[in-house]
Amino acid sequence: MPLSILTVVGARPQFIKAAPVSRALAAKATEFVVNTGQHYDDAMATRFFAELGMETPDLDLGVGSGSHAAQTAAMLIGLEDAMNEVGPDAVLVYGDTNSTLAGALAAAKLNIPVIHVEAGLRSFRRTMPEEVNRVMADHVSEVLLCPTATAVDNLAAEGIRNGVFLVGDVMVDAVHNVLPSVDAGRLERFGLPSRYFAATAHRPVNVDDAGTLRELLGLFAAMPLPVAIAVHPRTQAAMDRHGLDWPETTIALPPLGYLDMLSLVRSSQGLLTDSGGLQKESLLVGTRCIVLRDETEWVETVDAGLATLVGRSTDKALAAVDSLPAPDPGAVEAIFPPGAAVACVDAILEHLT
Ligand code: UD1
Repeated sequence: MPLSILTVVGARPQFIKAAPVSRALAAKATEFVVNTGQHYDDAMATRFFAELGMETPDLDLGVGSGSHAAQTAAMLIGLEDAMNEVGPDAVLVYGDTNSTLAGALAAAKLNIPVIHVEAGLRSFRRTMPEEVNRVMADHVSEVLLCPTATAVDNLAAEGIRNGVFLVGDVMVDAVHNVLPSVDAGRLERFGLPSRYFAATAHRPVNVDDAGTLRELLGLFAAMPLPVAIAVHPRTQAAMDRHGLDWPETTIALPPLGYLDMLSLVRSSQGLLTDSGGLQKESLLVGTRCIVLRDETEWVETVDAGLATLVGRSTDKALAAVDSLPAPDPGAVEAIFPPGAAVACVDAILEHLT
């Protein structure tokens, strides 16, 4: 009997991570995919399945938005039912969202082994919801698939040494799989200038509060080129709530699909972002990355001089614009080699069969 895996996805970055792993799993295991529905707009969810060549999930719980407790609790109930119904040999979760936590916790309580892709990452900032989610998920996981050596060390520092595999980052495989379709021509409808910075911002610490959001808008306004920002619904909701307008030199775009986003970043003079995923994707498409955070889980990119942390400091961002070189492809590949999806599947089979 092939191994039976129940996979939990729900938020935009999880669709991206799951795509290459599901493909690699197909030959070796049976997979039942549950979408919690944490992200539900076409631009945040459905569009990604088509672009990434994914099957539609087998079950959609339709949980939607809510407070952390309300959202996670609804997921727990739905996922427990699904796990009882399907009876998988293991449950596969990705990353650090509320869907990750709910999947890991529901499975652990049913004594189903948990496999965590992107295990061991730490920002060491417990006020981030993601930090709580990833620490909890790691501590109930049986197979911990780490993207970097730093992640392996982080787990060891917390006493987690069994079932830990260094497999690389599955987002690398996702990017490589779609690169031929990444093309500036996709963006014609937006009428972008020939030279611009790309941007995204959605972290609660940056966008929820009026004061921090104003700082960020000031930073965008001070950039020497127009800033084309793909606006996350959380950020737009905060702009509306606080009665703020985008600076004149900012081009506010709707949430973009995967291919449009990669195209936007690749054709830009640099990316300004607080997203962990885009921090890597930017380097993978050859664009330098200015990180709108004070810390990062992807410390290797900063240590190698490929990305710079500026928080919400306009001065630091302007200095980075002047000094940060285009990423060296060899240096990027040294940190993010391809092949993680297959390595994940090999590790899962080695550990669980
Ligand atoms: C979530 C993850 C975050 C990840 C991000 C990627 C958690 C705690 N956070 O943050 O780690 O980096 O996804 O995008 O799990 N909304 C819509 N349409 C949607 C989805 C959301 O309008 O399809 C709006 C709603 O107002 C919602 C808000 O965005 O309340 C926030 O969504 P939520 O899923 O709670 O968190 P994200 O900020 O998306």
